[in-house]
Amino acid sequence: MKFECNEIPQKGRLEVICGSMFSGKTEELMRRLRRAEYAKQQVVTIKHHIDKRNNQAPTCIVSHEGRERFAFSVGQNAVTIDKILELAHKNVDVIGIDEIQFFTVEIIDIICKLIDAGKRILVAGLDLDFRGEPFGIMPILMSIADEVVKFKAICVQCGKDAHQTQRLINGKPARYSDPIILVGSEELYEARCRSCFQIDCSAQLGVSIPPLTQKKIETTLAG
Ligand code: TMP
Ligand code: MG
Ligand code: ZN
Repeated sequence: MKFECNEIPQKGRLEVICGSMFSGKTEELMRRLRRAEYAKQQVVTIKHHIDKRNNQAPTCIVSHEGRERFAFSVGQNAVTIDKILELAHKNVDVIGIDEIQFFTVEIIDIICKLIDAGKRILVAGLDLDFRGEPFGIMPILMSIADEVVKFKAICVQCGKDAHQTQRLINGKPARYSDPIILVGSEELYEARCRSCFQIDCSAQLGVSIPPLTQKKIETTLAG
């Protein structure tokens, strides 16, 4: 069946804002959401409940500059799915999600459904964890996104561009075997460039990528 152009159901889009800590991801997310609101679009902001860095504002997303924006805090079980779908009701045009790296794979399906329903989805999150390895679902989101922007911070050690996040425990580099999730800010983390970044084991990249298989597919020529 062929659609006339104006009958094709309009899908939404996915924008991924990623980068190291202290690179301005949350600022950028808030800027994009503000612009949508100036245009009278309906916006909903969501954050992961794990992120409780700002005790004064548990229901806000907060940039490192201290700028705040109200956000619904959601968890990571079945409630999350229902809650996000409920928040993204019919009249909502734009959905912003901060700290997207903390969500589990179920969020990918929800995001795809919302894009199909015409919503514009903006997500902000860390592309790399403290070990320098891709953070959870981020590679998938970056692959399916319509737009990916990667922000850089400034290396605290040497002043060059920084795309890594160094975790420091009592002032010493964290160990590769430490847990991936550890909420914190300047007391635990600093932005570092590739040369100044320190870890006791180099990133294990590619271990979870399944091997590609190849098979000849029979095709028949039409006509
Ligand atoms: P930010 O990107 O908004 O600065 O916040 C990142 C959050 O993620 C912060 O709470 C620290 C946390 N985090 C981890 O849990 N594991 C990690 O490997 C890194 C780099 C950060
Ligand atoms: Mg942030
Ligand atoms: Zn450096």
